[in-house]
Amino acid sequence: MSEALIELRNLTFGWTRNRVDLEIAALDIARGERVFVRGASGSGKSTLLSLLAGVNVPRSGTLRVLGQALGSLSGTARDRFRAEHIGYVFQQFNLLPYLSARDNVVLGLNFSRERATRVANRKAMADELLQRLGLDARHIGALASELSVGQQQRVAAARALIGAPELIIADEPTSALDADTRDQFLSLLIDASTAAGSAVLFVSHDSGLRAHFDTTLDLHTLNRARVA
Ligand SMILES: Nc1ncnc2c1ncn2[C@@H]1O[C@H](COP(=O)(O)OP(=O)(O)OP(=O)(O)O)[C@@H](O)[C@H]1O
Ligand SMILES: [Mg+2]
Repeated sequence: MSEALIELRNLTFGWTRNRVDLEIAALDIARGERVFVRGASGSGKSTLLSLLAGVNVPRSGTLRVLGQALGSLSGTARDRFRAEHIGYVFQQFNLLPYLSARDNVVLGLNFSRERATRVANRKAMADELLQRLGLDARHIGALASELSVGQQQRVAAARALIGAPELIIADEPTSALDADTRDQFLSLLIDASTAAGSAVLFVSHDSGLRAHFDTTLDLHTLNRARVA
């Protein structure tokens, strides 16, 4: 398989036909690289992540993830690719409210053969990740809808980490956490991704967290659509 994790060339994307929201000449990210993504609100951070995860496809240009050109895959094939290779912590978490924290984490292994084979006991692994993120037994068994926002954020992170996907994408994952919990959260994310050899793309407005990362991507300079 390709050494590069992400290879992007001359990419454009617009949310509507007559608009260009993202225009990026080139972006390369290596396997295992830890990247801090910053940029003002509306600069295109979440839009870029949605393309890297195959939620949306480029209007023009090429985007390869693990050597696979995502734009040439069907929606279903992109969903499968994402389940297998990418753990995504959404800005709005996307937890299932009627499932427990534990069962939400186990869901991260659904539709992914490779990730599932890395986990011997799904519930035990979910519990271990949630404990390391500071959730106690009561909250691990509680419904997601009964958790605080900061607790939900940690459940979403554990769901992304389970099964060690090649890429972890985390969109503002620490915005609802207090300083102590934030540091604990970041340590786990870094430890777990290093142990698994996973790359991390981490969006935050908190530039104090930059020191934990190999490189910084600034959407303000990367996204030419913003300059126009
Ligand atoms: N679902 C959508 N439909 C239409 N336009 C969208 C959609 N999502 C984002 N946009 C537009 O695309 C541009 C970039 O938005 P994006 O969400 O990528 O910014 P961001 O950098 O993630 O901002 P924030 O820091 O507030 O999360 C904005 O102009 C926004 O209005
Ligand atoms: Mg965003």
